[in-house]
Amino acid sequence: MNRTKIAGIGHYVPERIVTNAELEVVMDTSDEWIIERTGIEERRFGERFKENTTILGAKAARKAIENAGIEAEEIDFIIFATLSPDYFFPGCGVLLQRELGITSTEIGALDVRNQCSGFVYGMSIADQFIKTGHYKNILLVGAEMHSMGLDFTTRGRNVSVIFGDGAGAVVLQPSREGESSEILTTHLHADGTYAEELAFINPGAHGGVHGNKDEMGYSENKWDPIFITQKMLDDGMTFPYMNGQLVFKTAVKKFPEVIMKALNTAGKKAEELKLVVPHQANLRISQFVQRMLRLRDDQVFSNIQKYGNTTAASIPIALSEAVQQGVVQRGDLVCLAAFGSGFTWGSVLLTW
Ligand code: UT7
Repeated sequence: MNRTKIAGIGHYVPERIVTNAELEVVMDTSDEWIIERTGIEERRFGERFKENTTILGAKAARKAIENAGIEAEEIDFIIFATLSPDYFFPGCGVLLQRELGITSTEIGALDVRNQCSGFVYGMSIADQFIKTGHYKNILLVGAEMHSMGLDFTTRGRNVSVIFGDGAGAVVLQPSREGESSEILTTHLHADGTYAEELAFINPGAHGGVHGNKDEMGYSENKWDPIFITQKMLDDGMTFPYMNGQLVFKTAVKKFPEVIMKALNTAGKKAEELKLVVPHQANLRISQFVQRMLRLRDDQVFSNIQKYGNTTAASIPIALSEAVQQGVVQRGDLVCLAAFGSGFTWGSVLLTW
């Protein structure tokens, strides 16, 4: 059985910085509220009509491919994690293949729809394919262009102040003989009981089944499409919804659990961790997790202050920055952990 290593990593964030002060102009919020509740000072927004999720993903992917020392044509499988795809279908995986100029049709392209834990899910999938020898160069991308679909009025302020745009990518390969870099263990979890507590429901083919039929404005004509209605647009039902307090409470339980699960499985202890790279959901969540696991400040990476919550992109952006800054060196024990919509959560323990 092969072992899987991260052979290359890279990230890209759009140039445009959006401060909390800018949001104060369009909605009833304040820099003070946002910093106190989330730690976020600014985020990046992609350039309208020039950037989209695939383009951000491609910019990160090119860096990861170069960092791995390979050519794009050598990629034999693409995994793309996002909750803000360019199209409802097809997914960003094939769009990225085209954007990178990969013409081989021997390649597979898979889209992962696991929101904040999409990158961790993608790592676990890639790990299985590499271990079994099925693929040799897997490109895994997490990218988001949240700014296109948020409600920037006071009505949407609890959600829209949190999110930002960006992308991160890794190339995964089999570890060579004698190399210590490897994924030690991955753990994936889901609890669909809470599916609607952090969700972007419309447009969608849910058909009003979950008791919300009457408020959707569906036509009486059974041949009319009900994917999206005028009422949904008029009533602002086409934006993400988040039960922030429930998400927060559940996240601070699940992050430590799933990190400990990875450590226990690999026979490691929290003090052996060089770095935990948590999904950058909220600085307060990361601080809570740090206290529960009794980790030092230098053992938990945070960059949410600069980028906000970039969902599927947050872990690879953070890991890429940690590597760039020299915080993580070859041989270090690193744990990636995520929690989010679904609810889904997971962890990856690796030796860098
Ligand atoms: O990556 C996906 C996973 N997501 C998360 O992990 C997010 C988890 N949840 C959170 O981070 C927090 O719940 C939030 C930061 C989203 C919200 O913080 P909170 O402390 O839970 O606030 P709240 O929703 O309970 O709202 C408290 C008050 C409310 O006002 P009243 O009813 O007390 O008068 C809100 O209307 O804060 C108000 N509020 C705001 N005020 C200013 C909500 N959003 C804002 C805002 N600016 N942006």
